[in-house]
Amino acid sequence: MDLDGVSIDIIKGDAHNISPPKPKPEGDSFDQNLQSRYFFRHLFKAVLLFTLVTIACFVLFNQGGAAGSPFQFLPTSFYNFTFSHAYNSTAPPPAVTGMEELGLEQLLKRAAMPDKTVILSPLNEAWIEKDSIFDLFLESFRVGNQTIGLLKHLIVVALDQKAFDHCLGLHLNCYFLKTQGVDFSGEAHFMSADYLKIVWRKIDFLRTVLETGYSFVFTDADIMWFRNPFQQFYPDSHFQVACDKFRGNPWDLNNAPNTGLMYVKSSNQTIEFYKYWYKSREIYSAKHDQDAFNMIKRDPVVRDIGLQIKFLDTAYFGGFCQSSRNFDLVYTMHANCCAGLDNKIHDLKILLEDWKKYISFTENEKISHPISWSVPQSCGPASFRSHTPWKKNGT
Ligand SMILES: *[C@@H]1O[C@H](CO)[C@@H](O)[C@H](O)[C@H]1NC(C)=O
Ligand SMILES: *[C@@H]1O[C@H](CO)[C@@H](O)[C@H](O)[C@H]1NC(C)=O
Ligand SMILES: *[C@@H]1O[C@H](CO)[C@@H](O)[C@H](O)[C@H]1NC(C)=O
Ligand SMILES: *[C@@H]1O[C@H](CO)[C@@H](O)[C@H](O)[C@H]1NC(C)=O
Repeated sequence: MDLDGVSIDIIKGDAHNISPPKPKPEGDSFDQNLQSRYFFRHLFKAVLLFTLVTIACFVLFNQGGAAGSPFQFLPTSFYNFTFSHAYNSTAPPPAVTGMEELGLEQLLKRAAMPDKTVILSPLNEAWIEKDSIFDLFLESFRVGNQTIGLLKHLIVVALDQKAFDHCLGLHLNCYFLKTQGVDFSGEAHFMSADYLKIVWRKIDFLRTVLETGYSFVFTDADIMWFRNPFQQFYPDSHFQVACDKFRGNPWDLNNAPNTGLMYVKSSNQTIEFYKYWYKSREIYSAKHDQDAFNMIKRDPVVRDIGLQIKFLDTAYFGGFCQSSRNFDLVYTMHANCCAGLDNKIHDLKILLEDWKKYISFTENEKISHPISWSVPQSCGPASFRSHTPWKKNGT
């Protein structure tokens, strides 16, 4: 998962170094698993206060207090009612006029599929420059097999003003996720305090989406969508996550997950899990959400919640860590195991060319000239040696 163009999709091995807390009597285990009671009381108050304030704000917000709302931390969103159905990268972006300002719930309603599922992708300034990751992301929907129709279910979660404006210019569904006390116009360096705030804000936001009754596919924009993944997701799991490395068994918690691609269905279990995941930041405050996920995935609390985590096979949902070798099977490809935005862009362009070649082949050509990925080239282990991961844009 990455936010500032610096990938941290490194295979880290699994987190066994936390001895799982002993199961506690029912009802209390949730709290006790997260260490100190003092902390919990403190947090509970904060959460309660936040919830009350949020409810109050939403009431005000929905009564038309949006535009000049003093509650600046509340996300504001705009939506163009005449949403263009297909993204056309060669067409100039139409002028933006008369934006309709909508709350999250209305935006979700508008973008959702009939089964109340949306596709969510975070976007920040570094990813929108010309010839950017985001352009490649959208192009993948265009060259993918019957993926273009999915774009109308995409909600771009903009993390800064420039990303938000850019999104609006493309007439996509755009949502501005603000994080209190973080100025995104500046640089949020990888793993800095601000960066981590954004990362955790995202988890909290996803919980809100689930609580609103919507399921989602969360996708980083450095994931290319070549086929409709809903044809391949497991029907029997509420929480499915892609892998850097898949070990063959979808239930095996030893799989190395990559939270850059997740399919999460709205249910009591997933809502509880997201609350727990978010709360874990107090313990793993210096960690990224993906690492925290690795830490908590074995917690008895997660089992008690009844969440069944299932891992997606890299044969279908691959990446540079572990490719989907067979083009006939690939649904998505992620530029993981890659440091540096330039390196990602370089290799994703080649990846798209490989795919275009494959899709243009006749059945006979596919047999006589079997295609394989020509990447990673700039990505992979070399990118970690040549790249200083503390700078923005991979420069
Ligand atoms: C995309 O836009 C260009 C320029 O406006 C136009 O010529 C082309 O037909 C469009 N393609 C599609 C698939 O709509
Ligand atoms: C919405 O976008 C369309 C193009 O898709 C544009 O023609 C129209 O003017 C926009 N409408 C509003 C209200 O912004
Ligand atoms: C694209 O999708 C259609 C319909 O699902 C299928 O018939 C066709 O074989 C697919 N093409 C490729 C290249 O996967
Ligand atoms: C979630 O919990 C509520 C209240 O306990 C219950 O009424 C509802 O049926 C549950 N829904 C699911 C999907 O389990």
